[in-house]
Amino acid sequence: MAQATNVGGHQSGLAATLRKDNWWFEAAWTGIGFLIFAIYTTWAALQGDHYWHGSYLSPFYSPVFFTDPSAAGAAPEAHAWFGLFPDSLKAIWPSFIPLSPAILILIGPLSFRMTCYYYRKFYYRSYFMTPPACAVGGRPQKYKGETAILVFQNIHRYTLYIALTYIVILYYDAIISFSRDGELGIGVGSVILLINPTLLAFYTCGCHAFRHLVGGQLDCFSCSDSAKSRYGIWQKVSNLNSRHMLWAWVSMIWVGLTDLYVRLVSMGVITDLNTWGS
Ligand code: FES
Repeated sequence: MAQATNVGGHQSGLAATLRKDNWWFEAAWTGIGFLIFAIYTTWAALQGDHYWHGSYLSPFYSPVFFTDPSAAGAAPEAHAWFGLFPDSLKAIWPSFIPLSPAILILIGPLSFRMTCYYYRKFYYRSYFMTPPACAVGGRPQKYKGETAILVFQNIHRYTLYIALTYIVILYYDAIISFSRDGELGIGVGSVILLINPTLLAFYTCGCHAFRHLVGGQLDCFSCSDSAKSRYGIWQKVSNLNSRHMLWAWVSMIWVGLTDLYVRLVSMGVITDLNTWGS
């Protein structure tokens, strides 16, 4: 007599599953890891100080639109795109939020990260549990994709251009970090600042939207020289794309550590090894 075999689906109820592996582990470490990053980033962005040392600029504060040089470890006025904080901005700024240069610019990179396909996957799993893993029961509110309020996730393909612009800006910061008071040199901080946009480029260039940008809407990859070039770039981008999760985490951790390094050097907690001796 034929025996019924269960070949798919999952048991209903939160966390109910037939899986025998540690399916919860990925949801747990990604959820906790990102929470730590979010808490540190929020704290660092609200400080408004110790984001500059010599020629080192924390990536959380780049680009500096306005500065308040009276704050410890703040960027000099010459390095701010629009100089000092204008009185008109101070007048309308809510008193319960510190007026920090980082607050004005962090929405750019955050809008890219938070709408990334990989980040959506992990935070829908870790925080919303819709569901927490494949073949595991989730909360009754099912994942509905990019509908209703979540339709804003579609801005990802546009925030890609913001992310690409940031990479250029952060490379500029890295290059000027090799010069201090007109003297060329090198320090541990300059190397850290140079690695930062490189890791961000690996993450950004592996973006699904970037992959579509370089190789999408082509019916034939070998029909013209330009199509062949795009195919070559698309293959490289696809390599990065296949490790998108890795680059997402490595670049995110590095950007946080870069801020921490600049902060600790600026506060005098650690000494930067460099050729300038300062
Ligand atoms: S899909 Fe992750 S950055 Fe675009």
